Amino acid sequence: MFNIQGKVALVTGARRGMGRTHALLLAKQGAKVVITDVDLAECELVADEVRTAGGDVACFKMDVSNKADVDSVFDQVIVKYGRLDILVNNAGIYQSKAFLEMTEEEWDRTIDINLKGYFFCAQRAAKEMAKNKWGRIVNIASIASGGVGIGIAGGAHYTASKGGIIGMTETLAVELAPLGINVNAIGPGAIDTPMADPKQMPAGMLDAILAGVPLKRMGRPEEVSAAVVFLVSEEASYVTGATLYVDGGWLSA
Ligand SMILES: NC(=O)c1ccc[n+]([C@@H]2O[C@H](COP(=O)([O-])OP(=O)(O)OC[C@H]3O[C@@H](n4cnc5c(N)ncnc54)[C@H](O)[C@@H]3O)[C@@H](O)[C@H]2O)c1
Repeated sequence: MFNIQGKVALVTGARRGMGRTHALLLAKQGAKVVITDVDLAECELVADEVRTAGGDVACFKMDVSNKADVDSVFDQVIVKYGRLDILVNNAGIYQSKAFLEMTEEEWDRTIDINLKGYFFCAQRAAKEMAKNKWGRIVNIASIASGGVGIGIAGGAHYTASKGGIIGMTETLAVELAPLGINVNAIGPGAIDTPMADPKQMPAGMLDAILAGVPLKRMGRPEEVSAAVVFLVSEEASYVTGATLYVDGGWLSA
């Protein structure tokens, strides 16, 4: 099960954190993986890991908030592989700022990367996937995305972007279903990556978070990547428009 042999998969924000483990696990399951991020040298280090494990990989510097960058990289991927089957929209930033002090520039930067960047990449990817009447788009949202989610003090721009991702996912599932493209979201809880590094949290913050998490620990990036692999596989053929929460039970508590 979950064999994606020969599929071409592009992951954004893949130089570290969850993007890195998504790339490694997709390659392990047989996909040809395209690693993209703002820092090419760090992408190359992840690419080396994929190659060492026997995987097929390419790297590109790509700022998801820059449409020219996105178009250029997608063009190069199509020249190299002739197709694109899987997109994992993962790139994101979290820059804590009190709502009453947040500037327009700070709001725009988060929305440009976390939401507009997902739009740019999903649109380009869907145009390629439609040619083969098969595709999978996975959008990484968050448990902090509205609805029954959690609010984060200092994260008005972030939570707005993540809620937007879930709304866009549900709409794309409807629009792209006739083209053979399934679109889903994942809502991670507290995952141990540089973005949520417990060593950099204020004293007591991790304990306060974990008090509300039934599994009583942070998630490992690989545990989110396993959900990515499921959603991009043939086995997820009847799953579209869903948000899968990988949160140790946080939202259920
Ligand atoms: N770590 C958590 O607890 C957590 C929880 C919920 C959701 N998420 C989401 O998971 C995703 C991955 O985050 P992570 O925890 O691995 O954090 P991370 O900071 O380790 O990874 C984010 C990656 O996105 C890249 N990136 C930033 N701006 C970019 C841009 N303009 N273009 C391309 N790439 C860019 C960064 O360089 C970095 O490699 C993000 O969308 C994040 O919002 C994380």
